[in-house]
Amino acid sequence: MPTALITGATAGIGAAFARRLSADGFDLILLARDAERLARAADEHGRSEVVVADLATEEGIAAGEDAARRADLVINNAGFGHTGRFLDVPLEDELTMLRVHCEAVLRLTRAALPAMRERGRGGVINVASVGAFFPRGTYGASKAWVVSFSQAAAQDFTGVPVMALCPGFVHTEFHERARIDMSRLPSILWLDADDVVAAALRDFRRGQTVSVPGLQYKALVGAGRFIPRNLAARFSGRTGRKHQ
Ligand SMILES: NC(=O)c1ccc[n+]([C@@H]2O[C@H](COP(=O)([O-])OP(=O)(O)OC[C@H]3O[C@@H](n4cnc5c(N)ncnc54)[C@H](OP(=O)(O)O)[C@@H]3O)[C@@H](O)[C@H]2O)c1
Repeated sequence: MPTALITGATAGIGAAFARRLSADGFDLILLARDAERLARAADEHGRSEVVVADLATEEGIAAGEDAARRADLVINNAGFGHTGRFLDVPLEDELTMLRVHCEAVLRLTRAALPAMRERGRGGVINVASVGAFFPRGTYGASKAWVVSFSQAAAQDFTGVPVMALCPGFVHTEFHERARIDMSRLPSILWLDADDVVAAALRDFRRGQTVSVPGLQYKALVGAGRFIPRNLAARFSGRTGRKHQ
């Protein structure tokens, strides 16, 4: 049986990856901080190992690297949003975001790829965001790094596919955890986590290095290329930025 490591597997997009990959016959390694939720998720799926780890810590990243070396498919998905704009957010929280969104993604990808090449199979999906294409605080900057890094890794390390997944707004716990008020977001902009995962795995099988699920978001990202960066920053700085 192939094995998939999913970080942030207990909620939202990570939980949707776990449901889908379990149904597809993968053994799962589920990683997150909350041990009880991980145990419940493992019970639900069967054929699962859990790794209780905080990817904002050295020990947590090391545990993730160890799991990544054993996995045929790595989904670097764990992530979070901030409550507030730059300078309202404590520096410590900004640095934690860079650790979880960038350092952990870099180190788990680096741990996984050589072992995958040796086995002659495998792949890595790094969950970024549509926010990667629009300036939007440290969050957008960290996700832009994920896209650029994944494209470069795919280019440099041929033979093992690496893809950045860039969802728009998805119904998960993300916004509630960051206390972002999403009540005024038009319904057309909401995506379902299971649909996002289905689109991601389809694009991954086709060998794409960047996946943007949903026609509305493909159009938005396409249009974004023609909008001056400062205008795009003004637009993205306002959307979904109202904090409770
Ligand atoms: N929802 C959206 O609209 C959206 C849009 C674009 C991109 N994304 C990206 O999608 C990814 C998943 O987000 P989501 O929306 O599914 O969020 P979510 O529902 O809040 O789930 C986040 C998951 O990550 C885990 N996690 C958070 N911090 C962690 C840490 N330091 N170490 C280990 N695990 C950690 C959480 O579990 P524990 O709390 O137990 O650790 C949970 O399993 C993120 O990278 C996010 O940036 C989300």
